[in-house]
Amino acid sequence: MEMEAAVAPPASGLRRSLNINPARATRPAAKHRPSLAARHQANAVRCELPRRPEARLRHRASAAAQRDGGDAEAGRRKRLAVFVSGGGSNFRAIHEAALSGAVHGDVVALVTDKPGCGGAEHARSNGVPVVVFPKSKSAPEGISVAELINTLREYEVDFVLLAGYLKLIPTELVQKYPRSILNIHPSLLPAFGGKGYYGLKVHKAVIASGARYSGPTVHFVDEHYDTGRTLAQRVVPVLTNDTPELLAARILHEEHKVYVEAVAALCEDRIVWREDGVPLIKSQTNPDEYI
Ligand code: GRF
Repeated sequence: MEMEAAVAPPASGLRRSLNINPARATRPAAKHRPSLAARHQANAVRCELPRRPEARLRHRASAAAQRDGGDAEAGRRKRLAVFVSGGGSNFRAIHEAALSGAVHGDVVALVTDKPGCGGAEHARSNGVPVVVFPKSKSAPEGISVAELINTLREYEVDFVLLAGYLKLIPTELVQKYPRSILNIHPSLLPAFGGKGYYGLKVHKAVIASGARYSGPTVHFVDEHYDTGRTLAQRVVPVLTNDTPELLAARILHEEHKVYVEAVAALCEDRIVWREDGVPLIKSQTNPDEYI
């Protein structure tokens, strides 16, 4: 279990009280259980988790944390579950960043409502276990919310990352992971967000509105579609002759970068909360700067 971490005071202009990841102070520690991979075998081609070595590392980190007040625990690699319904290009960007070391974490599970989607296929062929949620006519193997929460706990998931997952996240899950669930949306929220704004519909609406700029938003997730606190955005100009497809492609390119940067910050405990509830990302190189 992680502890709430106090951080150095912010840059003078900000005058805010900050804390990091209060979420996991409240999350129960997961106990070691028999391999989850076996349970998800029907869904995953190869689903070997590096559970034993990691468990050892975590145990060591915890012991060290008790000695040095939490630094070692805060510095361990974070465990990520990515939720996907489609092609999964953001999932792939995050997974590759984790493998390359750009993100100090590991994708330990992919959750999907569409077991045949591109993201799930990629997960299976890369040894990431696939969990199907929720149950539906087309996915009768899906699990319940309670089982999902249990599964995430058993995988010792620190953060949930929505990457093109089209279902609303159940309240129970939002409450279990306060300030620990991110989503990416392909417009500059709060514009062009909410129920019904997904895929090309977003870009069509942007072009139809005459907006000159659009771009991706990474935000924390609450109980509603696209209303959680904004963490990061990138601006992408809307061109005179843009089609929804062209605009979507340019924005998707930026999504991969901004999502990886935000997840890297999350995994390095570089997200701080201004006292009015706005999350900020601390610069990796200068702890007095926010990006
Ligand atoms: C992205 O445009 C993202 O902003 C939205 O869904 C799309 C997912 O794309 N939430 P991909 O599956 O990551 O390629």
